[in-house]
Amino acid sequence: MIKMPWTILREKGIVGMNQRNAQFISQFNERKYYPIVDDKRTTKKEAIKAGIPVPELYGTIETEHDIQNFESIVTDREDFVIKPANGSGGNGIVVIAGRAHNGMFRKANDMVVSTGELHHHISNILSGMHSLGGSADACIIEYRVKFDPVFEHISFRGVPDIRTVVFRGIPVMAMVRLPTRESDGRANLHQGAVGAGVDLETGLTRRGVWKNQIIDNHPDTGVSIKGHDIPHWEKILLMASRCYEIAKLGYMGVDIVLDRERGPMMLEINARPGLNIQMSNREGLAPMLDQIMAANKFPDSAEERVALSLELVRKRKQAVAAAKRS
Ligand SMILES: Nc1ncnc2c1ncn2[C@@H]1O[C@H](COP(=O)(O)OP(=O)(O)O)[C@@H](O)[C@H]1O
Ligand SMILES: [Mg+2]
Repeated sequence: MIKMPWTILREKGIVGMNQRNAQFISQFNERKYYPIVDDKRTTKKEAIKAGIPVPELYGTIETEHDIQNFESIVTDREDFVIKPANGSGGNGIVVIAGRAHNGMFRKANDMVVSTGELHHHISNILSGMHSLGGSADACIIEYRVKFDPVFEHISFRGVPDIRTVVFRGIPVMAMVRLPTRESDGRANLHQGAVGAGVDLETGLTRRGVWKNQIIDNHPDTGVSIKGHDIPHWEKILLMASRCYEIAKLGYMGVDIVLDRERGPMMLEINARPGLNIQMSNREGLAPMLDQIMAANKFPDSAEERVALSLELVRKRKQAVAAAKRS
């Protein structure tokens, strides 16, 4: 964690772990809806039903015996992604970026792996080694999203993802997470990715955080991560807001990636989104959450919820500017 004096944290409205759990997660997230987001197979099914684009599922492996189907699932595929259905934080995800010699596979970081190693990895996924709670899991094999050229110089061989925190269906804060050499094709901060805040109103990137330090340039490419215009920004906000309709969780984080041909796609929904999004934006969640808590009417359509979000963001910006002047 970046150390900030308590007064600055309070002024900026930084929400802490206890407050998040007590005030938001336990009050606004009903347990009965967790299975929809905790299993990525279910999230995918529900998204498809709702017309929200997701990476195509090539196959699932659910038992040790089924591991022999791996080759036939990927037979015509140059590249793909292997992940645990109940995983989190990028754990257990292997991004295969292409084929190598002698039937080997090339990972996002250029390391080569054999079929045997991937079988072993899948077996570990099934045992629950990478999953929530450590109980037995299933393995998903899906389309590898190809990142949009806009990210070429601020991402190291992996697809960045846009995390939006959505409160009662209204987007409240966003960041883009940029893979690094260390994160090996994954955009999770715990794997070593960079988090850069995004201005909700404009879709422009802000400064970033990497391993708890504030940074301006991508650690591998050296290119400034500030001021990039995220394509399809309105569509992304709309998609994040629409996810509320499938997940029905009052407080959630939605991960969206941009495919260079297919546009925005939803990767997953988190019922317990991390708080480091505040560090990436150098802004607390509380001012937006409080404004929404105080509201008593909520629009039904995602379009109206996004419009409300932008209105609240503008109000907040005006309040901050006024406080600075006085
Ligand atoms: N289909 C995919 N194509 C390309 N990269 C992916 C794909 N799925 C996941 N990733 C990478 O791995 C990261 C974590 O994936 P995600 O599905 O959100 O799982 P987790 O629950 O572990 O965070 C993503 O942010 C992205 O960078
Ligand atoms: Mg994720």
